[in-house]
Order: sequence, then C-alpha cells, then structure tokens
Amino acid sequence: MKWIYSVSLAVSLAMQPALAETLPGNHPMTEQARDAFVNQLLKKMTLDEKIGQLRLISVGPDNPKEAIRDMIQKSQVGAIFNTVTRQDIRAMQDQAMQLSRLKIPLFFAFDVIHGQRTIFPIPLALASSWDLDAVKEVGRVSAYEAADDGLNMTWAPMVDVSREPRWGRGSEGFGEDTWLTSEMGRSMVQAMQGKSAADRYSVMTSVKHFALYGAVEGGRDYNTVDMSPQRMFQDYLPPYKASLDAGSGGVMVALNSINGVPATADSWLLKDLLRDKWKFKGITISDHGAIKELIKHGVASDPQEAVRIALKSGVDMSMSDEYYSKYLPDLVKRGDVSMAEIDDAARHVLNVKYDMGLFNDPYSHLGPKESDPQDTNAESRLHRAEARDVARKSIVLLKNRLETLPLKKSGTIALIGPLADSQRDIMGSWSAAGVAKQSVSLLQGMRNATEGKATLLYEKGANVSDNKGIQDFLNLYEPAVSIDTRSPQQMIDDAVAKAKQADVVVAAVGEAQGMAHEASSRSDLIIPPNQQRLLAALKATGKPLVIVLMNGRPLSIVNEDRMADAVLETWFSGTEGGNAIADVLFGDYNPSGKLPVSFPRSVGQIPIYYNHLPTGRPYNFAKPNKYTSHYYDAVNGPLYPFGYGLSYTTFTVSPVKMSSPTMARDGTVEASVTVTNSGQRDGATVVQMYLNDPVASISRPVQELRGFKRIMLKAGESQTVTFKIDVDALKFWNQQMQHVAEPGKFNVMIGLDSVRTENAQFNYL
Ligand code: BGC
Repeated sequence: MKWIYSVSLAVSLAMQPALAETLPGNHPMTEQARDAFVNQLLKKMTLDEKIGQLRLISVGPDNPKEAIRDMIQKSQVGAIFNTVTRQDIRAMQDQAMQLSRLKIPLFFAFDVIHGQRTIFPIPLALASSWDLDAVKEVGRVSAYEAADDGLNMTWAPMVDVSREPRWGRGSEGFGEDTWLTSEMGRSMVQAMQGKSAADRYSVMTSVKHFALYGAVEGGRDYNTVDMSPQRMFQDYLPPYKASLDAGSGGVMVALNSINGVPATADSWLLKDLLRDKWKFKGITISDHGAIKELIKHGVASDPQEAVRIALKSGVDMSMSDEYYSKYLPDLVKRGDVSMAEIDDAARHVLNVKYDMGLFNDPYSHLGPKESDPQDTNAESRLHRAEARDVARKSIVLLKNRLETLPLKKSGTIALIGPLADSQRDIMGSWSAAGVAKQSVSLLQGMRNATEGKATLLYEKGANVSDNKGIQDFLNLYEPAVSIDTRSPQQMIDDAVAKAKQADVVVAAVGEAQGMAHEASSRSDLIIPPNQQRLLAALKATGKPLVIVLMNGRPLSIVNEDRMADAVLETWFSGTEGGNAIADVLFGDYNPSGKLPVSFPRSVGQIPIYYNHLPTGRPYNFAKPNKYTSHYYDAVNGPLYPFGYGLSYTTFTVSPVKMSSPTMARDGTVEASVTVTNSGQRDGATVVQMYLNDPVASISRPVQELRGFKRIMLKAGESQTVTFKIDVDALKFWNQQMQHVAEPGKFNVMIGLDSVRTENAQFNYL
C-alpha cells in the first residue's frame, strides 16, 4: 500500500513540511506517545477541522458521491459508516489522505452484530450456547471479515440486559442475566479487538447502548427508563463496564432517557460515571440522530441548545445529523461551548484513530488495491464451518417426549411452516453484509442431511402472518417476507395432505426476522394465530409433531408446547442455520444450549426473570395461599426457566461439596459438584452456579448466576466441576450505594438450570 500514501506524503511534505509528523509513520502504540501526538495535532487544527472530526455520516451505495467527496476534502467529516466494500472505503480514504489539509484519516464503521459476510446466530442465540470459546470464535471471524472489508470499527457488542421480551432488540443482546451478558460482552470485545485494534484483522468495538436501553418501559422501543440506583448498578451497568474493562474503544450512547434525562444529555452518565469513575479514554458516539431528538425529548428548545447540551454532556461524535457542524462554530464563538470542550471531544476521536493504527497506516485494513476481492460476496470469503459449529451449540432442546428426537434418516418426513424455506429469516436482524441467497434454509439443511436416505416433503402451510398490517410492516422497506396468495385454509389443507403421508412432521414456525428487530416491539408474544391454526391442524393428523422455533425473543407457547412431541428453540441461526438445525434434528449433534432468558407463559407475566427479589408473601406451589404474590388466573413461574435446556443424553449432579464451611473476609471458598453423563450418548452441558444472600441490609435476589462451565462428557463419564467464590461474587450495592459484601450465611445452588439445583451453604465471616 505504500505507494498511495508515499505520493500524498511527497506532495504534502513539499507543501507543508511542518505537518510531516501527522502523516503515516511509525508511531508507537503507547498511551504516552498517542497523547503527545494528538496534542500536537490538535494545535494545528482549526476550529472547523476539530468540529469536522466530530461528525459521523452514513454513506450507503445511494449517497451522492460528489457531495461526500467535497465534505471529506474540506475536513468536514471524521468517520463514515455503512460503507462495506474496500473499493468504496479506499475512494473515501484517498480523498482524506490526498486532498484534505491535515490528511487526518477517516475511520470506517458498521453494525457487525453477529457476523459480517458469514452470519452467525443472533446474539441471544450465542448466549444460549453459554460457550465463551464459541463467542470468541464469532468475534474473531466477524472481525476478520469486517477488517477484510476495510472496516475499523463495529457498533457492537450490544450488552443491554433485558427482562422485556416485548422489546424487539433483545435479539441483539445476551438475555436477562447480568453475569452471562458481562461474560459474553467481554469475550466479544477481546475477540474482536484482538491484541490491538490496529492489527490487520482486528476491529475496534463500540459497546452499546449506554445505558439501560434494554429496560425501556413496556418494551416499547425508544421509550423511557426509570430505575433505582441499586438496580442500575447491580443488574444493568456491569456488562458495559465489563466490555470497557476488556478494552472497548467506543461507547454508543442510548436513545432512551434515564430517570427523566435522555442519555444523550446525561453528563452524570457520560462524564461522572464513564470518564471520572470508570476512567474511559475512548470515544462516545451518539446513536442515530439522537442529538436532534433532544428537542422531542423535551430537554432542548432548539437545535443549537440540543448541540450545546449533548457536547457538554459528553457526546463526542454525532451520528447521522449535521447539527454539530452547523451549530458548534457559533456556540464556541458565543462562549457557550469552550475550545477546551471541543478539544476534548476531538481528542477522543483522534485517540481512537491512533489506537486503530490509522496514523501509522490509513490503509491498514484495506491492503493494496490489487488485492481487493473481485467479488465481495465470493463463497471463498465465508466461514461456513465456524458458522455451523456455533449455530449447533446455540440451539436449545425444550421438550422431547418419548425421545421423539433425534429423527431417523429414513421413512418420510414432512417439513411444514412459513420459516422452513426462508433464507432471509434464518439470518435474523442486523445481518450486516450477509447475503440471504448464501444462507442455508432449514429445508435445504434437511435435504442435505436426508438425501438418498429419507423422503422429505415440504409445504409452507401458512404465511408468517395473515394480518395485512403486520405483512405491510414487515415489507415496508424491502420485500422481506414473501406472501403466498393461496387462502389460509388451502395452505393448511395442502400441508395436512403432506403431513398425512409422513411418519413425522417438523413444523418451522415463529417470527420473521423483522419481528425481532429495532423498532419491532410487540404487545403480545404469541406465535401468530394463523401459524397456531396450522399447528393445530398438523397435530390433528396424529403424527408425531416436532416444533422448530425460529424467533428473536422468548415466545409464550403454552398451547403449542402442549401439542408438540418435541420443541427445538433455534432462534435465528445464521448462514449455516439449516445445516446446524438438521444436525441437531437427526442427532449428528447432541443439543447442549441453555436458555439465557425465561420463557413467560403469557405476556401478562412480564417482567418475569429468575433473579427477582423475594417478597414478604412468596407463593408456594405446594401450599397455595390466596394472600401470596401470584396471578390467580395463571400458573406461577415461567414455562421454561432461565438456564434450561435438554440433551439427548441425561446428566446427574452430585450434592455440592464446599471446601470450607466458612469464607474468611476477602478470602475465597470453593464449591464443587460431580456431573455424570448417565445416558447413552456423548454430550455437553452447562453447569451453573447461583448464589443467594438470604439475610442482608436490603432484599437480595432469590438467586443470581455467579459462575458457569460448559463441559463435554462421554456416555458414562463423570467430571468434577469446581467454582471458586470470591468476595466480588458476594458484593451488592447497599442503600447508601456502597458496594459491599455483608458477613453472614450464603446459599450456593449448582445445577444444569436455575430451578433444579443442589444446594449448600457457607458463612462469610
Ligand atoms: C441503532 C444502533 C445502530 C445505529 C447504526 C441505530 O438506529 O439504534 O444500534 O448501531 O442505528 O446503524
């Protein structure tokens, strides 16, 4: 690549020798060198150039190239997102490096949430694997493919803890638990950034959405959040902190307000907490158009005020609005925003550019022009084996009556359902630069598995929804969901005819990917009624019924569950989804996934999460009592609990052995169980450890995940699993907002889900 910038280097050196040190060079990747370099650079920058660094624009294929080029040349833009090919990225970087005054490189970002070209299972599914190595695999491959497309940054991971299945964006996160989400977020950051975000195949991460976006009221997207400080610090903030401690260079600011203050205007959040307490040195980026939205939030009366508030609150870079460029110059002239504040924001942008290695080599993620892929979607650029491996691990077996599964690769199998032959839906939301045509539908996956061995019949049976309003919603921007024009009854009749010819029926039902997305909140959690009717008709054939769920949130499936002989939760499992699901259906892979969310019986139970606080009147199944905390018209508790998932083999867990009955102040104690594969097949499972502080200065959750281990056991094999418990695992935020571990008794619960556990105790001295 040297030739491109050696030309620009020669030109600029001849024109402005004083700028030599800002150009590509050999800058050491240390904080000290970076700070010195960035300070020098800031001294050379005009106010407009500094403000230009704060502007992040979306450039898709339809953008007017001339206008963009002009902005880059005039140093009016600091970074670009939504451009995903090396050719297009290079054209813009050339513009910055050859024609802008200071030749400050741009950085390029994109939403790489669960893969770039190869699409992995959605994050909620990744969380179901409880497998940090698998998550790291996803991070590494995604970063590799993104960096290979010329990208420097990703808007990921999303670590918004959510107990709100109505919220469509739960699909992008890691579920309802703080500990699991923290582990997943940390692993993703470590994998994507690698040793250094500057490395050729690393990308810098930008953890989002800071903060508490997963707790929007009623699960309605963009809605407000109101939360006690204890809950905030105990349950919702740790995953962001974990991702930042892992080195995430970016933070994306949430669109919601918190206790009345929009995050974009929250100097407590973005300065006191993030910068002063957590010592974050990277960049904060507004979410899409969020600065403008301060007016609608009702905290700014006009654009200029919105800009002043956002900048002063600590939002460094504005995404997709021209407000900073338009209003900051005047605000600085009038003294409403100081030069020091502008410098701080610009410094953060330049810092991350330095950390991305862009001042050493603005083309580091592009390589020489000659190496650009001829076909960005070439099959050879995909990582199918990795995608299949991870997808299999993320599938959860919810029910398996009389060992209906695994299926035999013989006889006749009817595959029915609106999601069975969909290459688009199986990729899930935020499928980055993935191409639907390259993904393996369930139909294709089952064909691959059964070819020459079994007869596979297929019928769609129902549209995703018969509701015209929902169909239009799903197809608003693109023909995402194909609508069969046969009458609903005709579709069911055709499906039943196929089912009758088969030995077993597999029904692929649930949600289209667009139903679990940004701005896809639901007021109900049911499988759409027309799909329910299809299932009832299939059940009526008397054939064994296997439900393969595809969905981006827990659904309320009490009736469907009752009808089914087996239920497989596959979420949206990505490019290799069809093959992976077939692997599980036919027993080529023994399912090992565990739910990262509770499955409510109905939408009315929300919020329902495993780590709730006790009440003064707990409900007791064994001795039901009217004046206890429950609904009189529903069974208490979830349909499927957090941490739950079956296998084709069985496991037993021994009683818990404590290394000591006591734990010294600031010491540690160990809890062990022996897990045995008591069945006939080899298989993996996840051993989960929960703690409970039964008497404390404030009520503490009935149980909280504090450790887990995924283990693989051959049939008949046993393994002892030991969890080390340290003082951090006991700590909580007390009424005075001190992070403390209080002496006293602690309960330890270890099991293969959150409900059936072996229990022990220790005393914290
Ligand atoms: C979403 C972010 C996303 C951004 C850029 C916004 O609408 O809330 O999660 O990163 O768009 O695509």
